[in-house]
Amino acid sequence: MDAPLPLDDQARSILAANCRGTYTLPTSGLYPYQWNWDSAFSASGIARFDLDRAWTELETLFSAQWPNGMVPHIVFHQFDESYFPGPDAWGTGHQPPTSGITQPPAAATIARRLLRQDPKAGRHRLAGVFSKILAWHRWFDLYRCEHGAVAASHPWETGRDNAPDWDGPLEAVDVVGIEPFVRRDLQHVDPEMRPTKIDYDRYMALVQFGRDAGWDEDVIRARSPFRVADPTLTFILLRANLDLRVLAVELGRPTDEIDRWIARLRQGAEALWNPDLEAYDSYDLRGQRFAGTLSNASFLCWYAGVDNPGMVARLESLLGEVSYGVPSHPPGSRGFEPRRYWRGPVWAIMNMMIGTGLAGFGHHALASRIRCDTRRLIAGGGFSEYFDPLDGSPAGGGSFSWTAAVWLDWASPSTMEDDHGFAKT
Ligand code: DGY
Repeated sequence: MDAPLPLDDQARSILAANCRGTYTLPTSGLYPYQWNWDSAFSASGIARFDLDRAWTELETLFSAQWPNGMVPHIVFHQFDESYFPGPDAWGTGHQPPTSGITQPPAAATIARRLLRQDPKAGRHRLAGVFSKILAWHRWFDLYRCEHGAVAASHPWETGRDNAPDWDGPLEAVDVVGIEPFVRRDLQHVDPEMRPTKIDYDRYMALVQFGRDAGWDEDVIRARSPFRVADPTLTFILLRANLDLRVLAVELGRPTDEIDRWIARLRQGAEALWNPDLEAYDSYDLRGQRFAGTLSNASFLCWYAGVDNPGMVARLESLLGEVSYGVPSHPPGSRGFEPRRYWRGPVWAIMNMMIGTGLAGFGHHALASRIRCDTRRLIAGGGFSEYFDPLDGSPAGGGSFSWTAAVWLDWASPSTMEDDHGFAKT
């Protein structure tokens, strides 16, 4: 039997195998299209061996931008029946076909990371995408910044599809009359690791709602039964705006508008502080209440340039409860399930954002614990979608692009700790 390839080589092979010319799938079968934030983070790993191709990844994503500035969460470049809901279910009428919702906007941060690697070669590539990123961030400011924090109109927009944060708000979503559908995800992954049937029914009710509303953001804002201000979107957009400002200066563009967005989002982030939970939390804008759930998104504050001694203490205590951090939901909390997607498992990509944010503020011991845990998880369980925080076993889809990218750009021992583009805001 052949010896297994070293992990760096395995990671590169996964990114190469998931490459579809100008974009990268998260993993074949389960996710056979281009996903927005997966693609951005994949670019950071691809940059380790092909910087030109990494820029192409971002350019392809923005080729599907809507005229109103929104960058969709899925781009259906080539129909693949292994995934549902496909282009017909979304009915957006766009070319290339896309979904009708967005996802955490990581592109500006990744563009800055690519530019740092080779400023001379990257400048004209940056000039090509800069206005598109600016238009996307403007879309967020226009349509989604309610009370400053960023509102999601579907749990899929937050990337944390079935987090316990949405359990309360989703109860308001009526599933009577939804069109019958067949889930394809369960043909690829153990149902115990995926969202439940009632979750999926509600996801599809929201897709139908958006489609019936013609994906009109004003109608969705006024009438969608689901509207939740989310720390994932808020912290990632705040971080992205800080990076976009640096890019604007680099290109000699004005920064006033971006400065306003940054100020607004800083306030918005504080609006997500739940004094009862003593942590950043999701806020249900319809029910006017906090979710009351600590999640790995609560710890994205440092990544967004927000330090908070209370959150340091919360993280130290949470890490004491698990063998591998950072769990997406704390063991012992209501709704915790160690292997079910966003209800407990550890995600390498979240760890990279949390760890690099901590390092940027000098919280080196915590940053190093999270980086080492990520390294141990991947070394022990491979390039899985996510991992059980209690025993480290792999879960979800396999051969995952962004797990491979996190390895190459942050977790691998061959990557120097200060040798990546994320730590500094
Ligand atoms: C899915 O289909 O599971 C995705 O997370 C939606 O983006």
